Amino acid sequence: MHPGVISPTLLPARIATIAMAALLALATPAKAQDMANGSDLARRAVHVCAACHGDGGRSQNPAYPALAGQMPMYLARQLKDFRAQQRSEAGTQAYMWGVSALLDDDTIQALADYYSAQTPLAGHGKASPAVLRAGRDIFDNGLPAKGVRACASCHGEHAEGAAGFPRLAGQHADYLYAQLKGFGSRLRPHGVLMRAEAAHMSPVQMKAVAAYLQSL
Ligand code: HEC
Ligand code: HEC
Repeated sequence: MHPGVISPTLLPARIATIAMAALLALATPAKAQDMANGSDLARRAVHVCAACHGDGGRSQNPAYPALAGQMPMYLARQLKDFRAQQRSEAGTQAYMWGVSALLDDDTIQALADYYSAQTPLAGHGKASPAVLRAGRDIFDNGLPAKGVRACASCHGEHAEGAAGFPRLAGQHADYLYAQLKGFGSRLRPHGVLMRAEAAHMSPVQMKAVAAYLQSL
């Protein structure tokens, strides 16, 4: 079940937040000049992140987006949006607000650098060739009759991402589909560029493009 769709149990997120607080407290040195820097804290924090996002951010569970190989600028902005309680879908409120509240800017940057350097999740899924072809057509060409632009023009020819435009290749289709539906709402304020695209796609088209992206 996708946590954005079904109200998630809060227990794992609470435990993760407590674990993170404990790790960061352990890292607090007695003397200010020994203050752990962002990358020390990030090295500890990834153990907590891995409980949900998987080893190196290669999540095997579609409820948790993959982070490996994601654009560092995009990752840092999402973590800051969670911390500021601006990105606020049900799943992110339950899972990411508590953990991100404990991260300072240096640690966020170090986490973004760490995950962007990991080998991305390989393409996967069992969609039919017809669905994959339909998804690829939307990704490469958009839906000109509806004013939907080619996804590739922002997300890169192979959905590899660029700067603030996230990598989509290999990402779980369920997660991608949930985001496309969610961009119609105000829950992702930085998703403003996506609102027009998502508003003019049918659920069938969203599912096709999501399946294609997962297969890359
Ligand atoms: C208890 C589980 C849990 C833990 C621990 C956790 N996350 Fe998440 N994270 C989630 C879920 C669930 C989502 C997606 C929410 C949704 O579907 O909207 C998410 C989303 C994200 C996203 C957005 C991804 C995207 O493609 O936009 C980023 C970035 C992220 N997490 C980073 C981290 C980092 C870094 C850590 C460790 C400091 C961490 N998470 C710890 C569950 C967790
Ligand atoms: C004009 C540029 C632009 C175009 C065209 C575009 N996107 Fe995006 N997309 C973005 C930006 C910017 C974000 C990051 C939003 C944020 O930070 O919240 C994004 C985010 C996304 C996400 C969320 C990823 C995640 O990890 O949470 C999905 C899914 C997505 N786009 C799919 C698509 C698809 C499918 C198309 C084509 C139909 C498309 N995009 C076309 C700019 C664009």
